Amino acid sequence: MIRLKNEKQIDGIRKSCKLLSAMYRELIPLVKPGIQTIEIDQWVQSWIKKAGGKPVFLGYSLKGTPPYPAAICISINDEVIHGIPSKRRIHEGDLVSLDCGIDLGGFISDQAVSIEAGKVSEEVKKLNKATNESLYKGISAAKSGDRLLQISRAVENHIKPFKFGIVHEYCGHGVGLALHEDPSVPNTPHGANPKMSNGMVLAIEPMINIGTGKINVLDDHWTVVTADKKVSAHWEHTIAIFDGKTEILTDRLE
Ligand code: MF3
Ligand code: CO
Repeated sequence: MIRLKNEKQIDGIRKSCKLLSAMYRELIPLVKPGIQTIEIDQWVQSWIKKAGGKPVFLGYSLKGTPPYPAAICISINDEVIHGIPSKRRIHEGDLVSLDCGIDLGGFISDQAVSIEAGKVSEEVKKLNKATNESLYKGISAAKSGDRLLQISRAVENHIKPFKFGIVHEYCGHGVGLALHEDPSVPNTPHGANPKMSNGMVLAIEPMINIGTGKINVLDDHWTVVTADKKVSAHWEHTIAIFDGKTEILTDRLE
């Protein structure tokens, strides 16, 4: 588990997070109908390199998967997370979830957004808004001295009235000095429930589906899709708890 030891560490992680959000601010206007997802990845790879960082996702392996082949995950519509950039083009009405991380001098950031390409349906809009709101509900529950699963409860409570599905199999996580650290931060209360305390850096990331919360993984070993092929949304911030306060390290992009 990450425990920030000093100002230098929090500062390093903060800088990495700010850089990642700066990248997104330039990238988001390019995510429009007609662009190929591989073009987005190429743009991201060169942006991160120019900025002096390293794309943490590129070559990353998750529990025995083949190395992830891109700098950014691009998951469209029924794809929940870990979509691999390809020649596929973005179309009007797509919900495009982007998830990226940067290693800046050994400090790791992680952020995800779901972008509406052109005009999306009312249902998708509602899903995307509720998912984004649930992220901030979760963050508000991240307080030094409270239990971790308060975050999960806050996300779940926000989503419940919409009757949307919450993805259980994938969770938020500790982050900062490595991409995936303890503790796991689920979006429904289950598993370990440690007390949150100073020095923790967490990636909070609700993955919410219009239909069932059940998912499948495609034969590429990465792409996670909804079992009923309905649309999914994903929003993520990296946050830190220190000096008894909670700070959102990545910038708000919506
Ligand atoms: N960003 C994802 C997460 O939040 C991890 C992506 S896995 C990778 O946990 F291989 F694509 F890096
Ligand atoms: Co993450």
